Amino acid sequence: MNVGIDKMSFYSSDMYLDMVDLANARNEDPNKYLIGIGQKKQAVIPNTQDVVTMAANACTKIIDDDNRKKIDLIIFGTETGVDNSKSAAIYLQNMLGLNRRARAFEIKQACYGATAGLQMAKEYVQNHPERQALVIGADIARYGIKTPGEVTQGGGAVAMVISANPSIAEFDGPSTFYSDDVMDFWRPLYRTEAVVDGHYSNDVYVDFFKKTWDEYKEITGQTIADFKAMTFHLPYPKMGIKALRSIIDEADEEQQANLKKEFEQGRIYNENVGNLYTGSLYLNFLSLINNSDDLQSGDRIALFSYGSGAQGEFFPMKLKDNFRNDELAKSLDDALKSRKQVSVEEYEEIFTNWIPIADGDIKLDTSNDKAEFFLEGVKDHQRIYGRK
Ligand code: CAA
Repeated sequence: MNVGIDKMSFYSSDMYLDMVDLANARNEDPNKYLIGIGQKKQAVIPNTQDVVTMAANACTKIIDDDNRKKIDLIIFGTETGVDNSKSAAIYLQNMLGLNRRARAFEIKQACYGATAGLQMAKEYVQNHPERQALVIGADIARYGIKTPGEVTQGGGAVAMVISANPSIAEFDGPSTFYSDDVMDFWRPLYRTEAVVDGHYSNDVYVDFFKKTWDEYKEITGQTIADFKAMTFHLPYPKMGIKALRSIIDEADEEQQANLKKEFEQGRIYNENVGNLYTGSLYLNFLSLINNSDDLQSGDRIALFSYGSGAQGEFFPMKLKDNFRNDELAKSLDDALKSRKQVSVEEYEEIFTNWIPIADGDIKLDTSNDKAEFFLEGVKDHQRIYGRK
């Protein structure tokens, strides 16, 4: 039974901060951000968008009536949930008019949540090939103004429909995974910004990548030559370069050049949006299949997922005949290109007045938000969502 990703989409806010502006405001050399970190722009998420609306805005581009009937598993990976009890998946199910005879819930393990969802969806569809699952990775990455992590903020949502006989890519081999109790990045309940030991988190990431990659090679007998491209959780693009560099000597010279070239195509969306936490690996994958000219049906792509705390997982996928949807790719490009640039002062104001910090009724001005789904405000501790 071939199971995998049948549809895939992505949404981020229509505002961004230029990393040259941020570097200048923080008295840093812009090349530190552009080259050292690898980030060009970063999404700035307004109060009228949260993980629920961003997920709904990603889904609205791909979900049709057939999906509405067949999806009966909705898994929402996030570490930026809007409620400590009720899952974002239940809100999403209602907003999209999905089948109510469904299981809908949220998963948390830092940036790993969507991968946990994807693997669970895979096993569900393998057992119920007539059904489909919807898996979301949506987050708003926040470290704080004037912190070293600030350049690695961002946000957005990736949505994936998992089915039998998928159009985009099928699972093509075993996963290898590794977990350990590590304090590299976490967010206590009372905080709206992450606590991070940045350099240590880089080291743990590469260590978990190498552990899962080595185990994958050991149990399958495969080598780096079995992969056309490698995709990674990209908290920032340089992190993926560090991981790729750690094993690239295993490839011959020609393949080294190819892997680097594919990495450049895969980072395009990420370097313009920033960290999506749970969605970042899948944004890297989507960017690769939408932007690379070299990929063909049957090519095998490696995926490495990492969630601080920490959990790593390595798994392979194989591209199918219709892996690229040109119309959808163009609409994603257009959305990125038509975003409004905000100044550092505007970004700081939006960041500081983030709604979860507020307690009490709020009525938001939604007139500037062009998205189909948006947050109107909060009343009696309930979030009120709107739709255009
Ligand atoms: N031109 C070019 N490059 C320059 C430069 C210049 N003028 N100045 C500095 N650089 C380079 C540095 O050499 C360095 O490169 P290497 O990493 O290859 O050595 C790079 O720019 C960054 O410089 P620093 O290490 O000095 O940067 P920093 O100390 O300010 O912080 C960071 C970098 C640790 C990544 C920080 O941004 C951070 O804490 N980010 C959040 C944590 C994070 O993303 N961790 C990733 C792993 S954890 C994970 O993946 C889960 C998750 O999503 C959070």
